[in-house]
Amino acid sequence: MARTDAEILGREDVNDLDAILEITNTDMDEAIHVVKNNADSIFTWDYERSRVPLMKLYEKAKTSMWNGETDLDWSIEVDNEKLARENPLTPTVELIAEIGVDLSGTVLAKWTNDDWVKFEIERINWSLSQFMHGEQGALVCTAKIVETVPWIDAKYYAATQVMDEARHVEVFAKYLDTKLDGHYAINHHLKMLLDDIVEDSRWDMTYLGMQIMVEGLALAAFGMAHQTTGDPLLKQLLRYVMSDEARHVAFGVLTLKEYYEGLTSAELLDRQEFAFEAAVRMRDRFLQQEVWERLGVPVRDAIRVFKQDDPEIKNQDPFQQLLFSKIVPNCKKLGLLDANDGWLRKRFDTLGVTQFEDWADTSEEYELLDAVAEDRAS
Ligand SMILES: [Fe+2]
Ligand SMILES: [Fe+2]
Repeated sequence: MARTDAEILGREDVNDLDAILEITNTDMDEAIHVVKNNADSIFTWDYERSRVPLMKLYEKAKTSMWNGETDLDWSIEVDNEKLARENPLTPTVELIAEIGVDLSGTVLAKWTNDDWVKFEIERINWSLSQFMHGEQGALVCTAKIVETVPWIDAKYYAATQVMDEARHVEVFAKYLDTKLDGHYAINHHLKMLLDDIVEDSRWDMTYLGMQIMVEGLALAAFGMAHQTTGDPLLKQLLRYVMSDEARHVAFGVLTLKEYYEGLTSAELLDRQEFAFEAAVRMRDRFLQQEVWERLGVPVRDAIRVFKQDDPEIKNQDPFQQLLFSKIVPNCKKLGLLDANDGWLRKRFDTLGVTQFEDWADTSEEYELLDAVAEDRAS
């Protein structure tokens, strides 16, 4: 039997704002975070190469490595204030009035365009900080996959991903440190999710949590950031990172497609519940509580302003919904959307993201996003 939302999420109502806002990072100065990994390390004595799509992906990974030190132009000066001011997506007092958002009774009513520019600078810093923490999550998770997956082709591929993720953490950390003003601590919703993934004893749950859910969202989020940033250095950085991420998501889809075909309905239900929990944790983090706190705006005020067409926090923001545009088709391809009478489909409906189910899945996209091959050809 399926667990209830309360059992999965620790709250009755998935959209209960009070319960969501209660979850905050209470230890901002924490330097080391210990999580118990309950999975077995697996050796295989079967060295036979039989999984052709994984072999192909492994070969691709070997020739698509780039070097963050030499392939990115770190001499580019980044003027964050100018970028924020020129970004058409930065809110302005005039734009807010024009679209009829009511700020009355909130701190935001007194905000000038300079305050909104400050907000945009913080928002970028917060987003890139969470990208960096998520990348470290991927680094740890793929090291775990190398140890826990029983297939030799998957161990080989995962080993290339460990290197990719080290590079990703490295370049985001360097960008935050040298081009922005330091970084934000990890958002607690994201941390809970990473902890759950690392703790789980079943090898395929690492794939589902990291390769499908976290990386699926990252691929969509990086794509949006790549399109909207006016900074040529960040654009380059994201282009290289995305080219790796597309392979990573493909790795998840190809592996789980095969593995899930052998699972029972009850086992699939566990995976559906895990996917739902992961989706909720990721959506909750996009309330970007820490940004509003740093700017002295009560989080509830900010949420009321930006979600005012919706009494709940259900995703009405088209940008936020788009973040799920890779996850939902991939879950469908894996059979997770429809198993057990569409249990996950109904849950994704409560998050307002089911409309992406027929978008392209990500098992082939890496062929199109290979930045290193493109550079060589030009
Ligand atoms: Fe990554
Ligand atoms: Fe990745």
